[in-house]
Amino acid sequence: MKVLLPVILLTAGLSSGYRSPLNDFQRSEGRELVPTSWNSIRVVLLLGLNLEECASCCSRSLDCRAFNHEMRPTVACKHLPWVGDGSNAEVKRNVNCDLYEKKVYVRKCIVGRGEDYRGKVFTTSSGLTCQQWWSKFPHDHRWTPTAYNGLELNYCRNPDGDRIGPWCYTTDPERRYESCAIPQCKDEVCITCNGEDYRGQVDHTVSGIECQRWDQQYPHQHIYKPEKYPDKSLDDNYCRNPDASPVPWCYTTNSLVERENCEIRKCTEVLVEKRQRSSLTTNCFRGRGEDYRGEVNETTSGIPCQRWDAQYPHEHPFYPNTYECKGLEENYCRNPDGSEAPWCFTSVSEMRTALCLQIKRCTLTA
Ligand SMILES: *[C@@H]1O[C@H](CO)[C@@H](O)[C@H](O)[C@H]1NC(C)=O
Repeated sequence: MKVLLPVILLTAGLSSGYRSPLNDFQRSEGRELVPTSWNSIRVVLLLGLNLEECASCCSRSLDCRAFNHEMRPTVACKHLPWVGDGSNAEVKRNVNCDLYEKKVYVRKCIVGRGEDYRGKVFTTSSGLTCQQWWSKFPHDHRWTPTAYNGLELNYCRNPDGDRIGPWCYTTDPERRYESCAIPQCKDEVCITCNGEDYRGQVDHTVSGIECQRWDQQYPHQHIYKPEKYPDKSLDDNYCRNPDASPVPWCYTTNSLVERENCEIRKCTEVLVEKRQRSSLTTNCFRGRGEDYRGEVNETTSGIPCQRWDAQYPHEHPFYPNTYECKGLEENYCRNPDGSEAPWCFTSVSEMRTALCLQIKRCTLTA
């Protein structure tokens, strides 16, 4: 065993994964960024490139902030020097086209220290307006705006990797510079319960590995294709929870790590309760019965259920504490995992789980 280890490590170094150039972009399906007429001249048409090549060229070009990927009548890649947030171009519907915008320009949150933040916030945490980067007044400084450092107008930036995140010189002579308090992506949108409805923009795992795009099958092949799960919002390479896991997760761009959880802030209790209460039922169940909170505690054939907080006779991952919003109390029939109806682990070791179909469906009027 000892001699094998260096070999494994070497392989790891060589095939540590695949990072798609599309990871730099946020996709809007069936959308096109249409420049205002006087701007059409600034669109760069590239023919004969596939989607990833189109993305790769755009990633490397400082003049490219977004691209239209037209699929019909011919495949075309059109680079644009803006994203769809200003007066230069407008986002329009087009079933033959997908719009890809660079994340750093459209995202309102940062990862790490936010050196790559290119958003348009220009006020500091205490509300002061930022000084233009090309100006030395009221504060003199050593920075020169270039296409590379992103020091544009008076937008908050972090050209020196300051721990306070994006900052700026302020227009207040008394206050040289200040942080702009751009939120971390992991704090910007919080999760309730196990985050099945999380739609935020965290795209790294808890250990810092970049996520694989849901619409790609490499480095990891998987079943969660966005078009098959339209209600799960499997957008770009953002952390999601399509399979009722304890927290949002993603496949990773490291070929040795198939999937990993993501770290996202939990919302406060008050919010959780407010959202929960409305749809719960006790005497019958709706849909798949995920909101059933009644007290039936045996299977269809009358076998008593195992308590959710017990691991005997069946070991299982559905700890009541892990799934705090799934109502895993006592030994009641529940549906924490999107099964077809409420179910439970049974108290006999020969039968692991069984549905509780003696619970009636709610009638439409109930
Ligand atoms: C099931 O629920 C009934 C009524 O609430 C209770 O009397 C009974 O003891 C429960 N059975 C088990 C096995 O927990």
